[in-house]
Amino acid sequence: MSADELRATARACANIALIKYWGARDHDRNLPLNDSISLTLAGAETVTTVAYDPDLAVDEIYLDGERLLDHRAARVVRHLDRIRAAYYPWRARVASVNGFPASTGLASSASGFAALTAAAIAAFGEGLPPRGELAAWARLGSGSAARSVPGGFVLLRAAEDHDASTAASLFPETHWDLRDLCVIVSTEAKEIPSERGHRLAAAHPFMRARQRLLPGRLAAVQAAVAARDMDALGPLVEQEAMEVQALMLSSTPSCLYMTPGTVAFLRAVPRWRAEGLPVYLTLDAGPNPHLLCEAGVEADVLERIRELAPQTKVLRCRPGPGVTLVREHLL
Ligand code: PMV
Repeated sequence: MSADELRATARACANIALIKYWGARDHDRNLPLNDSISLTLAGAETVTTVAYDPDLAVDEIYLDGERLLDHRAARVVRHLDRIRAAYYPWRARVASVNGFPASTGLASSASGFAALTAAAIAAFGEGLPPRGELAAWARLGSGSAARSVPGGFVLLRAAEDHDASTAASLFPETHWDLRDLCVIVSTEAKEIPSERGHRLAAAHPFMRARQRLLPGRLAAVQAAVAARDMDALGPLVEQEAMEVQALMLSSTPSCLYMTPGTVAFLRAVPRWRAEGLPVYLTLDAGPNPHLLCEAGVEADVLERIRELAPQTKVLRCRPGPGVTLVREHLL
């Protein structure tokens, strides 16, 4: 096979967790302590090309056109090493482009590692493994990346075993026309990486109580999504987000991701609801609130966001597909 053929490009969407993965049982393999459920986000995509070159001495990693030489490159190389150990030992040039601000809790690691995993395996020219296997591979790069492999509404299983801790679609992206409006109140890189947060959470005294109540909440969220019932889903999603923020805040050291801009939305969203607008809020390990609503009220929600934060960029997302291979390469 010529070096020219050892190349593949994949596109993956970010995802927003409705039930969060926060706390790992195995930090080397990113095995989560609890199941999580997410919505795949069309509108927040990463495209990644992997081109192997058997003559290359070191991997070259480019993000948004810039060569990475820091811990982010090291993390990509670590992931490539895992994949190479199962395939061929060739070094690679990797180019990745994000359609949204990276490292702001917008789960760029999810879309990034999902796209990287698919491209890195496909570039060997031997096809992709089944989706479940691909999702487990992606999980090794970043836990939430497993959920960006299938499309639509996705469940990531917590298990003690690598193969079993994988993700699958519960419902396709066509199931329910939800909207996720991510308000970019800050584009600064987060100070506390989620890897650190997962360790702190696993040791947190509240974690036991959370583990006990999660099975009920997971079932309720699944039922609300199945019934396309926003009145049932919204409060569950908000409660989940606030519970995880409480866990983050009360870790030692404390993980504070919110900024005054975030808090303005925490106060406004319940007020808008009281005025008759069915919109709910969730947060990840970052300051940018995700406002969830049905398509029919998206324009009203956007108007409220503009009134509250006129200069702020809003990333408009809808249910998206799983990872796909594309023909246009970045390298
Ligand atoms: O994939 P990680 O290690 O970045 O963890 C994801 C953490 C949250 O985004 C806060 C929650 C989630 O389930 O996506």
